[in-house]
Amino acid sequence: MIPKQTVQEVLEASRVEEVVGEFVHLKKRGVNQIGLCPFHNEKTPSFIVSPAKGIFKCFGCGEAGSSVDFVMKHEHYTFPQAVKWLAQKYHIEIEEEEQTPEQVQAENERESLFAVTQFAAKFFFDYLTTNERGKAIGLSYFNERGFATHTIEKFQLGYSPEAWDALSNAAIEAGYNKDYLVKTGLAILKDNGNLYDRFRNRVIFPIQNVSGRVIGFGGRILTSDKKQAKYVNSPESPIYDKSNVLFGLFTAKSDIIKKDNCFLVEGYTDVISFAQSGIENVVSSSGTSLTTGQIKLIRRYTQNITILFDGDAAGIKASFRGINMIVEEGLNVRVVLFPDGEDPDSYARSHNAEELNEFLEKYSQDFIHFKADLLSKEAGKDPVKRAGVVREIVQTIALVPEQLNRLYFIRETSELLDIKEEILVNEVAKMLRNKYYKDQKKGEYIPEPTQIKAEQQIIKVDEGDLFQEKELIRLLLNYGNLDFNPADARITMGDEEEKANAEEETEEEQLKVAIFILEELLSDDLQMNDTVLQIIFDEYRQAYEQDTIPSEQFFVNHPEESVRKITVDLLTQPHTLSPNWLEKHKIITTIETHFEVIARACISSVYSLKVRKISSMKKELLQKMSQEEVSDESREQILIQYRQLDILQNKLNNGLGRIVTA
Ligand code: CTP
Ligand code: MN
Repeated sequence: MIPKQTVQEVLEASRVEEVVGEFVHLKKRGVNQIGLCPFHNEKTPSFIVSPAKGIFKCFGCGEAGSSVDFVMKHEHYTFPQAVKWLAQKYHIEIEEEEQTPEQVQAENERESLFAVTQFAAKFFFDYLTTNERGKAIGLSYFNERGFATHTIEKFQLGYSPEAWDALSNAAIEAGYNKDYLVKTGLAILKDNGNLYDRFRNRVIFPIQNVSGRVIGFGGRILTSDKKQAKYVNSPESPIYDKSNVLFGLFTAKSDIIKKDNCFLVEGYTDVISFAQSGIENVVSSSGTSLTTGQIKLIRRYTQNITILFDGDAAGIKASFRGINMIVEEGLNVRVVLFPDGEDPDSYARSHNAEELNEFLEKYSQDFIHFKADLLSKEAGKDPVKRAGVVREIVQTIALVPEQLNRLYFIRETSELLDIKEEILVNEVAKMLRNKYYKDQKKGEYIPEPTQIKAEQQIIKVDEGDLFQEKELIRLLLNYGNLDFNPADARITMGDEEEKANAEEETEEEQLKVAIFILEELLSDDLQMNDTVLQIIFDEYRQAYEQDTIPSEQFFVNHPEESVRKITVDLLTQPHTLSPNWLEKHKIITTIETHFEVIARACISSVYSLKVRKISSMKKELLQKMSQEEVSDESREQILIQYRQLDILQNKLNNGLGRIVTA
């Protein structure tokens, strides 16, 4: 136990920007610092650190908290572990009160388990490389498979002798406790209290965690005896959590960073053969089907995964599942399908390194081309089956986080399969809606609640403006991150005068849709009349003040149910811009014109809200004027104000062109 006083001392000494800065590259932005969030995948920073408040907050995933929260979350530490880490950083001595016996035991146990697996790894390796029988049986097997000595050393491969208790005896003789042999699964306890070895007469593939410690083993049979399992694997243990481990990651990680890509294969031998061919950025999920935890492990090093699969039916099925999982985590996925009967290992062995690299380059496809090619072959010309192909692709697109990314894939699919983008947009929206509603029932994680700040001077818009408000929030949610140039958009609105002006003016700067909308509204103190929309708007305002733009996930997972609901609604109607718009102006919603359409929608929505605000101000002035006690002088003043508003309103109306019909 760490004394309370020391905890306090540590927390007071901790500077959030220094602590976070150890893990995240932070840049100064005004009073805050900003960086890429380490807790979710993002390309534009929405993670802010406020030294003044001593907190961090991510507007993408909602993670937030203090220095100690950050260390706990990032390092998967308990509170005391995080405090110890901070204490070390700030050179504060901790005189620990005694740990509870359970705490001591748990810590010691993990260390003991690591010690015994390390012993076993060395035992198997030594047996393979120095024992005569080991060399004759195990090493010759590996040699036959073409594994070179340096490869065997690199992966610390081994051989388990053909005996019931060779490892167990050696371990106990060396002073290791029986219990730990059993807990790691290296030995199995018989009813009579004796031990027998799990791995017997098998070649051994040790499995390491990210920091290189051995945590388990896979043992391959040497024959092709169909009656016995090809592999025997270590069971899970306190140090071996299969869904959060990837075989080869420890040796591959530096190369994954260097190549900015990770090859994902199925088996131990695939990893090893690739590494021997010089492709070292490769890992395998080894036996377990791919998990989200494993994808998150890869994400620490790269955003790009290329999955390699056997061309058989099982391989294809697994690839579909893998693609969806990777896409859902926001990573880029490519796929290589090996010719029937070949797998990465066999291909690497029968080709030289250059051929292998060429093959991977030539046959890797993004998920749309991969699915389309594969499924189209099956579907032939059958229209019903072809619709199934589209649905299959659309399903994956609906898993992609962020509307802008989805639009990108929709465009690609539309081109490839020659289907109208509009149809695809609708299909994706339908699936999204179903998905979000299902997710919400699960009630996943809850970010910290929003605090709605009372504004000093709120000028509220008319009751009847709900449609306009919704439209603005819809644009923020769907396209907040889109770059656009207000000048361009004004030109495309067909206003001749504006066009001439814009051409004369120096080019207006490219900015994000969200920034444009927020700056326009905030500069006039405009607020939403609708309380739920105001919550969303306030989140945007807060993020804007921190120089970021919140992601759609932030709102989809918002603690307020009403916010989640309206978000889903607005996210799943990405192209109904205004009730009469499409009909009146025959705007075709293909993606090429879409960006233009979005830009116009932004401007017209902002302006029509302003026009409405001006109307109500004018109305107020008229009322004031009609009051009897008003002096002539102030009546004059009011008239001037009225006239100014009138001019402004006309200007805005002209700027809107003939598009907006309020
Ligand atoms: N696997 C397993 N148990 C089995 C079969 C397979 O745990 N009975 C896991 C292993 O991690 C294996 C991976 O699934 O590496 C892929 O299986 P497979 O391709 O059959 O094995 P390889 O390791 O590729 O072996 P080989 O090339 O010698 O056939
Ligand atoms: Mn294989």
